[in-house]
Amino acid sequence: MSPKLVACLTAALTTWAACGSTPEVDPPGTGDFEGLPTGTEQWKRVCATGHGDAITAAFCAGDEPPAITSLAELQALVGLDASNRATTRAMMTGVSTGVGVRTITPLNPRAILVGPPPTGVPAPAFTALAFARGEPLVEMIARDPGTGTLHFFALRFHPACEATAAGCNFADLLTPSIESDWTRYTIYDEETIKNTPLDCLSCHQTDGPGTPKILRMQELRVPWNHWFASNFLNQREHDFRVAHAASYGGIAQFGQLESPAELELFLRDNGFSPQPNEYDSGLINVELRQTGTSAAWQEIYDRAVAGLAIPPPYHDVDPTDPAKVGSMIDTYRQVVDGTLARDLLPDIRDTLLDAALPAMSIRPAPGLDGRGILVHMCARCHNSRLDQTQSRARFNVETLDALDRGEKDLAIMRLQLPDGDPRKMPPPRFHTLSAAERDLAIQALAQ
Ligand code: HEC
Ligand code: HEC
Repeated sequence: MSPKLVACLTAALTTWAACGSTPEVDPPGTGDFEGLPTGTEQWKRVCATGHGDAITAAFCAGDEPPAITSLAELQALVGLDASNRATTRAMMTGVSTGVGVRTITPLNPRAILVGPPPTGVPAPAFTALAFARGEPLVEMIARDPGTGTLHFFALRFHPACEATAAGCNFADLLTPSIESDWTRYTIYDEETIKNTPLDCLSCHQTDGPGTPKILRMQELRVPWNHWFASNFLNQREHDFRVAHAASYGGIAQFGQLESPAELELFLRDNGFSPQPNEYDSGLINVELRQTGTSAAWQEIYDRAVAGLAIPPPYHDVDPTDPAKVGSMIDTYRQVVDGTLARDLLPDIRDTLLDAALPAMSIRPAPGLDGRGILVHMCARCHNSRLDQTQSRARFNVETLDALDRGEKDLAIMRLQLPDGDPRKMPPPRFHTLSAAERDLAIQALAQ
């Protein structure tokens, strides 16, 4: 019997940790950068933009890319520090409709740092940084004081585990380990990643080239349903605190976690209110309490199903299964405390209720026909508004009838690729179709 199996069986006596789980994993999402330049070559592209924002300035101050081996060093480089209220505000959300829609949960939230803090008037220059454990990715935005334009950056870092023969396990990716000991990184500008599923502008500039780029916070107003709000101690925040006694995402102490009101003010002051397709937490909660359904939520959801807006957050406050969350917390604590082998940690993000997936637009809305499935699952990235010079624009669900046979056949082929293939459509990071849903979509494309 292998030592790993022995450890696994021993552990199974005291926890539910499944021996069948094989926690050696490729960090998810790494396929998104396939074929793109890396390292110094890509750094030169960022610096060649000549943009005047603080992130470009910080990265391009020297003759070579700055050395960065941890999230803390990166935050320091771009001037954000959760322990310093004079420069920074730090927030967390347990549900995201950004690139971590499937992987951000109350146990593995998205930490957002912004600065300078809101003062009631627009800041000529500002910086925002978002990070969640599990993915070797940091997302950043900075406003160029000269032009007033926002610039978007994705930093792909390489955690130490990637260079080892054993590869990464979930403990490497989901505990504090992922925040330090980076062996290298590449900084990407928004142009370079525009024709990938990560395309920042597909959500932060939904009306396409030449229209304003925006910061996003769909739950802009009180009670910010899915955000951690230290002033409303709720079950999600409680779960998070039980699991993570120490720091998360550069936010070292709970005293450093601000109310989401601070991000709301930051967005309002800087001109990003109203939000498109805003999710009105207070109204949705009242409607759900009174009738069990929410017309306000249904309206913004229907717009996403019709391909007119990015998906709204889940209607209810919690899309996770409490039983799954409970056992994940226990196992996580044991691994962090050293009483359970690290390679036995399961994917603690795997807690979403199956029933919540259509409402989160991860799966198509129930009852759609093939065409409806294509619109709900493809239109955010394949429409007439986004940059039409990208190869992706050749497949446009808004003009399905006008597409030639070759393009439709290409779509059919890409729908049938396995999940691990970076060309798989829709990108598994955002969407999953059942076999029956995929067949309906293929039938619509076969016409
Ligand atoms: C699928 C839509 C989507 C994509 C793609 C996307 N974002 Fe966002 N982003 C959001 C939403 C929605 C929020 C608000 C918080 C949340 O829901 O997680 C957000 C928040 C942010 C924030 C925090 C500041 C703010 O606007 O609230 C940063 C920083 C950010 N995104 C950077 C990026 C970068 C960089 C990229 C590209 C690499 C990107 N985003 C791609 C939807 C998206
Ligand atoms: C999150 C954004 C996103 C979503 C959602 C998405 N795609 Fe894509 N798709 C892309 C990107 C980016 C490319 C270009 C890069 C590439 O070819 O992989 C692309 C390329 C394609 C292409 C190749 C176009 C060409 O002529 O080169 C087809 C076909 C396609 N997607 C079909 C689909 C279908 C069908 C769906 C929905 C079931 C879908 N996509 C959903 C991002 C997306």
